Amino acid sequence: MPSDSVTAGTTTGTEVTTPDHVVAGVDIGDAALADTLRSRLAEVEELIVARLETGEDFLSDVALHLVTAGGKRFRPVVTLLAGQLGPEPDRERLVKAAVVCEMIHLATLYHDDVMDEATMRRGVESANARWDNSVAILAGDFLFAHSSMLLAELGPEAVQLIAQTFAELVTGQMRETVGPGEGAGDDDEAGHYLRVIWEKTGSLIAAAARFGGMYSGATDEQLDHLRRLGDAVGIAFQIADDIIDIASPSTDSGKTPGTDLREGVLTLPMIYAAESGSPDPDRLRELLGRPLTDDDEVAEALDLLRGSDGMRRARAALEDYVAQAMAELDALPAGPANEALRRLVRFTVERAG
Ligand code: IPE
Ligand code: IPE
Ligand code: MG
Ligand code: MG
Repeated sequence: MPSDSVTAGTTTGTEVTTPDHVVAGVDIGDAALADTLRSRLAEVEELIVARLETGEDFLSDVALHLVTAGGKRFRPVVTLLAGQLGPEPDRERLVKAAVVCEMIHLATLYHDDVMDEATMRRGVESANARWDNSVAILAGDFLFAHSSMLLAELGPEAVQLIAQTFAELVTGQMRETVGPGEGAGDDDEAGHYLRVIWEKTGSLIAAAARFGGMYSGATDEQLDHLRRLGDAVGIAFQIADDIIDIASPSTDSGKTPGTDLREGVLTLPMIYAAESGSPDPDRLRELLGRPLTDDDEVAEALDLLRGSDGMRRARAALEDYVAQAMAELDALPAGPANEALRRLVRFTVERAG
């Protein structure tokens, strides 16, 4: 939802949500909490811009390109909401930690678009398309540098958490590039896929959730639940993204559909569709067996996938991770923040239709 303002109200289906309760496009169900979240998110935006503006214009302009283009601010929302679960939210540290997560996420988007040769991001031209690969890579590095400065201000525990997370994230991106097979230690293609998406997407969302607990006085046991909540939400989030890459037009996603097909990345709906229930299984398997460069072939594969049972099975898998996330929330303190996190989880899944 690239064009969403982070504070705008919205409609979901035919039901008009109450703007008072809506933050970053999500109805979080409580007006007072929505107010708090909205003002913390405004601080997050200010801090991101203030830090990135400190560089030379030629670098700041590129680094701010995707910040101003839009984005859901999903990871900051996770940190800030999880930070309302504990007894003593430390406002300044929560905001800094939320900024760290968004900066790391942003850096990976710049780099991911280079690797995926993507031309569109957050509804605008990707940095690699607008400038070139070198510029996009350096902008990502600049974001990493600034997230490190903030981490140093937060202290060694935060540095350690993000260092670990970053290693997992990079491992996931590399594992995806290498693909399943010998030496990868995977049971099957679906197993490989799930491991990759936990590493590349789940790890950062789990860190975002842990940060919320760390800076609001959560117990060690609660921190473990928050990490597992983030793992489950992160996996669900990426499965939803991979369904969207097949099912949604770029006007909804802000990205070009079929990017995973062009990259030859086998996502869960594709793996399931290749196994069963496609209108033309032989042709589909042939198309999924190589990166697609021809626009007509991408359109043909998208058609076959959209009509396949793989989409239904991938949506069913999503629901399993939602159930896991809800079970973790059952073990965390009840109240408006807990309810808001439940709504955020639902919202994540509903994006995938
Ligand atoms: C995109 O993340 C990359 C994935 C991990 C799927 P988001 O869907 O959070 O992208 P923005 O921040 O809203 O643009
Ligand atoms: C990459 O996954 C997730 C990251 C860690 C950046 P994708 O390649 O599916 O992300 P999008 O669809 O380009 O946002
Ligand atoms: Mg990509
Ligand atoms: Mg994607």
